Order: sequence, then C-alpha cells, then structure tokens
Amino acid sequence: MVNGKIHSNVVAGQQVHAQYGGVIPELASRAHQQHIVPVVDVALKKAGVEMDELSAVAFTQGPGLLGSLLVGSSFAKSLSLSLNVPLIGVNHLEAHVLAGFIEHPLEFPYLCLLVSGGHTQIVQVNSPHDMDVIGRTLDDAAGEAFDKTAKMLGLSYPGGPQLDKLAKTGNPLAFTFPDSRVGELDFSFSGLKTAVLYFVRDEREKQADFVEQNLSNICASVQHTIVSYLMRKLKRAIKQTGIHRVTISGGVSANSYLRMVAEETANKHGWKLVVPSLEYCTDNAGMIAMAAHFKFLNKDFADQSVVPFARTGK
Ligand code: KG4
Ligand code: ZN
Repeated sequence: MVNGKIHSNVVAGQQVHAQYGGVIPELASRAHQQHIVPVVDVALKKAGVEMDELSAVAFTQGPGLLGSLLVGSSFAKSLSLSLNVPLIGVNHLEAHVLAGFIEHPLEFPYLCLLVSGGHTQIVQVNSPHDMDVIGRTLDDAAGEAFDKTAKMLGLSYPGGPQLDKLAKTGNPLAFTFPDSRVGELDFSFSGLKTAVLYFVRDEREKQADFVEQNLSNICASVQHTIVSYLMRKLKRAIKQTGIHRVTISGGVSANSYLRMVAEETANKHGWKLVVPSLEYCTDNAGMIAMAAHFKFLNKDFADQSVVPFARTGK
C-alpha cells in the first residue's frame, strides 16, 4: 500500500487442508512459514517497491490460528527491526470491516455485516478506531453454516464456494429450512445445521440417491435460508440505528446470492451499499494494509513485545 492505495495483494492458498475436510492448524503454520518470504518478495516486486522504501510493516495480530499468527508476527517484528520502521499490529476482524475502503470512499458512521469462516457480526463503525459490535453469532459463524451443510451434502472443504456454484442452477424455494429465533441482532446457525442433517438423513431413507438427484435445489435452498436470515438481521440493525450506509465483508461476502440480494435490498430501501471486490472479501493482505494505514496515520504502533492472540468473541 502506498498512500492508502493498494499496489499489490498477493495471496498464497493452502490446498493441503482439502483432503482432511478442514484446516489443520499445524499444517497451516508450516505452509505459512514456507510461503511468507516468497510472498513478500512477489508483493514488493508487483508493487515496484524496494524493501528499503517501506515506511512501516503491518501484520495480523489476531484473532486466528495461533501458529500461523506467530509466523506472521515474528516475521513482521524482525523486518521492522531490521528496516528500523514502525510495526503495526492489526485486528483481523477490524481489517475485514475496513476492507470496503480499499475501493470506495466510505462515510462514518456505517454498518458492516461481517460474515467469515470464524465470525458473524454486525458492527457499527464510528471511525477506523471506534467500532461497536451490535450483533454476533451465539454459535457457528455463517461461513461454518455454509461449510458444515456443504459437508453433509458430500462437498469438499471449504464447501461455501462450491455450494454457491451448485446453487446457481437450483431453486432457492425448493425446500424450506428453519432459522433460529435468537436475540434482536444476534445470530444462531446450529438449528439450521441440525435441520439439514435430519433432512438429508430422512430423505435418504426414502430414496438413497436423493441428495445427488436434488443437489442444486438443496444448495440453493440452504443458501437462501442463510442469506435471508443475514439480510433480515441487517435490515433490523439499519432500522434500529438509523444508519443507511452499509458494507458487507468477510469470506461469505464473496457469495454471489448474498451479493445479489444485498444489492436488490439496498436499491429498494435506498441504502448506500459497498461490497468489496472478491479478492478483498476472503482473507487478504490488502485489508490488513488498509487497517494499518489508519493506524499509521494515528501513529498507533506496536513494540517488539507485542504478542498475537487467538480469539475474541464470534
Ligand atoms: O474471511 P475468510 O476468508 O476467512 C476467515 O477469516 O474465516 O472466510 C472464509 C469462509 C469459509 O467458510 C468459506 O466457505 C466462506 O468464507 N466462503 C463462501 C464463499 N466464498 C468463501 N461462502 C459462501 N459462498 C461463497 N462464495
Ligand atoms: Zn477473515
């Protein structure tokens, strides 16, 4: 990032987890270790920036998998020390929330529907440094709801993107699944998970290849349930706060149906909606740089004693 503009955003994917049906933390940190030097190298080359031109080094402080966070933070600490430039620790969730800024000017306050593999929150963003979580999931995250139901349908990990693809040719109203009635702006996805589990079991008893025969309709219906639920909560948050500027971020904001429904709803109700490009929805370095940019302007630097953290609330 140069003066608040992203010049390169390099992501190293980790295929190694797919065969296990989920992320294996130890393999994730080892892959991080292998990728970090080449990725930084490519990012600098693509941006046309030399190492000694850097004015700060940012890293994800948490929440996330501790092993991977340790690789990133150790690397960032040594780089900032060797270049003698400030070090900036970035909260992963705040970075998702600020990702909308990468391509659009946003006005404060705004609401962010943050939907990732680990978190589901509605955040009121008063400034880059002042955010209130006004709704959160009480159990699974929206991404987990996608991944776990996709797994029940026989799709490989992470199932969210595949479910999205299969749903394109299905009928979203083919099957009905319940959603959970929990607190005003909070979310729960465990009921949906159980409903899909029993649905698949019961239908398979009647017809062994039911799932295979109805895959795109089931995917479209599950997706419709999750997306309608998210949108209903977002609408309620807008009504409660009176804030009509909205952004959607996190891996699940890459979902094509959510993007379409959100746009339609925003047009209908006159919200100002910002949804980042796909590359800034799922985990990426650009959003970390964006959040770091605001901290840099505020001279909010970390020192060498900074430590990563694995968790915060969902
Ligand atoms: O933000 P992210 O990349 O990583 C976390 O911080 O968790 O989000 C990953 C999550 C996974 O659960 C993945 O299945 C989901 O985002 N995801 C999707 C789509 N693309 C990624 N879910 C539904 N539809 C998609 N197109
Ligand atoms: Zn994320």
